[in-house]
Amino acid sequence: MCGIFGYVSYLVEKDRKFIIDTLVNALSGLEYRGYDSAGLAVDGDKKNTVLAFKEVGKVANLKQLIEDEKPDLTKVFDSHAGIAHTRWATHGTPSRLNCHPHRSDPNWEFSIVHNGIITNYKELKTLLVSKGFRFETETDTECIAKLAKYIYDQQSSIDFVDLAKSVINELEGAYGLLIKSVHYPHEVIAARKGSPLVVGVKTQKRIKVDFVDVEYFEEDALPAEAASQNAALKKTSDNFLTPNAAMPATADKLLLHRSLSRAFMTDDGMPMPAEFFLSSDPAAIIEHTKKVMYLEDDDIAHIHDGSLNIHRLKKADGSSNVQTIQTLELELREIMKGKFDHFMQKEIFEQPESVINTMRGRLDSDKKTVVLGGLRSYIATIRRCRRIIFIACGTSYHSCMAVRGIFEELTEIPIAVELASDFFDRQAPVFRDDTCVFVSQSGETADSLMALRYCLERGALTVGVVNVVGSSISLLTHCGVHVNAGPEIGVASTKAYTSQFIAMVMFALSLSGDRISKAQRRLEIIEGLSKISEQIKQILELDQPIKELCKNTFKNQKSLLLLGRGSQFSTALERALKIKEISYLHCEAVMSGELKHGVLALVDENLPIIMILTRDGLFKKSLNAYQQLVTRGGKPIVICNPGDEEFKANLAEKIEVPKTVDCLQGLLNVIPLQLIAYWLAVMEGLNVDFPRNLAKSVTVE
Ligand code: F6R
Repeated sequence: MCGIFGYVSYLVEKDRKFIIDTLVNALSGLEYRGYDSAGLAVDGDKKNTVLAFKEVGKVANLKQLIEDEKPDLTKVFDSHAGIAHTRWATHGTPSRLNCHPHRSDPNWEFSIVHNGIITNYKELKTLLVSKGFRFETETDTECIAKLAKYIYDQQSSIDFVDLAKSVINELEGAYGLLIKSVHYPHEVIAARKGSPLVVGVKTQKRIKVDFVDVEYFEEDALPAEAASQNAALKKTSDNFLTPNAAMPATADKLLLHRSLSRAFMTDDGMPMPAEFFLSSDPAAIIEHTKKVMYLEDDDIAHIHDGSLNIHRLKKADGSSNVQTIQTLELELREIMKGKFDHFMQKEIFEQPESVINTMRGRLDSDKKTVVLGGLRSYIATIRRCRRIIFIACGTSYHSCMAVRGIFEELTEIPIAVELASDFFDRQAPVFRDDTCVFVSQSGETADSLMALRYCLERGALTVGVVNVVGSSISLLTHCGVHVNAGPEIGVASTKAYTSQFIAMVMFALSLSGDRISKAQRRLEIIEGLSKISEQIKQILELDQPIKELCKNTFKNQKSLLLLGRGSQFSTALERALKIKEISYLHCEAVMSGELKHGVLALVDENLPIIMILTRDGLFKKSLNAYQQLVTRGGKPIVICNPGDEEFKANLAEKIEVPKTVDCLQGLLNVIPLQLIAYWLAVMEGLNVDFPRNLAKSVTVE
């Protein structure tokens, strides 16, 4: 969780106003990752000093604080390093003190922003307290800043990268972090392990920045003997954290490090003015530059004097990753709200387009073919696997539930759907001939990542179905499909769900491509998919009637039941989650067949109920549940197909959605329910895009 951002300039004159505005604006874009508190650290008025601001609540509060404190915004810097953070609290309540950046000491010799969790922070804290450090916050992050100072104080000639390596070598847990120091002015260290970080580069226009020519060179390797001795030493408490010039504490890692370096030079070989933007999400960089480099786990990036150096662990097989600066395909408009009041609303209305983007270049409705490039060379292996396990959290889990039936039907392979946290807690059995599919919008969810590493260790084939390109899940899985829904910023997931659904249906279609017995069914589904965008558009026209319905029916209610059967139970689960998440109204999804086994006792003429009753093979059974409700005075609002004779009598309000192939109907049924969740929250005056206590990407267990 949490959003981090850094701005480093070299020989580019900027005043403090520009620097602070750059940091604050970026934090506003990252706010969906956490909005308990926000803070930043920039260079102070005197040489090698720091000016920091921290405030509880949203980024707007931080902005206000800076306005109130009136720093000298006109001060000009020709080179500068600033870091910033927006927080979703894990350790320590949201307070000014606990807010990032954290410092090593009152002079801010080292300032840190951090996303993730340091699991051994208590041990580090105990050690540092014994060395005389006084801790001022309840966070795990503070120990990183203090540790940096401790190591620096032992060996002040140490260079910034070696210092960072020594610090990082002592950390356990997950991190994306930026370090700024008065001892290394205008430089920043960025490091990641399990938390995303991307570096954007902006240089003079006249230089072509295609940077495919990044150089590699081996760092001085220490003799293996010294390295292993040192590794042993490191863990003995007396020598713990005592870097030794001959044998740095990180010797065991140093041996494995390579570094990539790119100094940006002008034509005549002079250092080139350059600006660097570091962020946990490329969306916050896009307004400055499209040239980015994604950091990988264990990378340490060092930005100094206009150059970017990345120190990377060599792969286990000894090969090196040729790293290039990539061009972001993201457009600024994709991360702006445009004419909409909220990102969630925008994302709901983007679905006619986002579902097409998911299918573009993959599904050919004329030739009736589906080709998923990222899976092509693995399809034959997956067809032979013993079972497919879908593993995900929250909404992504619901999308897996929604496609389970069609996967079973088309592939005839046993399918399991697992909540990542529960799957990992149980240490469920996984075998080499299993295929484990990890579905995630962000690609960074800690529970899913833990489960992924667990499956990799057991030799299973892993497949990623993710939205965010370059995310950890997309990097760690053997193969996968990007769902291409575009950036999803609203904390409540909407368009990612429909795109995941479609990506997985296409996956099932690819797997069954060799089955003659399924040919007719495949054609029917491909035909259905080709019409889905237009049908979503039609449903979105119900926006205003749905708003009215919400006003008339759900205002001031305490609870709501959502009923569905078969694959529509996943639609109910997904929407119940959304209603709870953004409108704080208790909403329970009930499998219609289970109604009579207990939940019916809740039903009376006052309890609001929504029932999914579109026509599929289970319609008759669902109708029984409907009758059971009506007989007990219940007045369900029905989601049904247009002109359905069963609901002619208009016992209930109804929302009509176009009919499609049964296994795709959930894609359409979910749309009016998205609108209901949205309008319920708006009616209550709630902050739709930033529901309390939540954040978009859950990078903690
Ligand atoms: C709810 C929601 C969450 C996420 C869950 C998994 O609207 O967005 O339930 O679905 O945290 O996140 P990803 O898909 O990023 O792994």
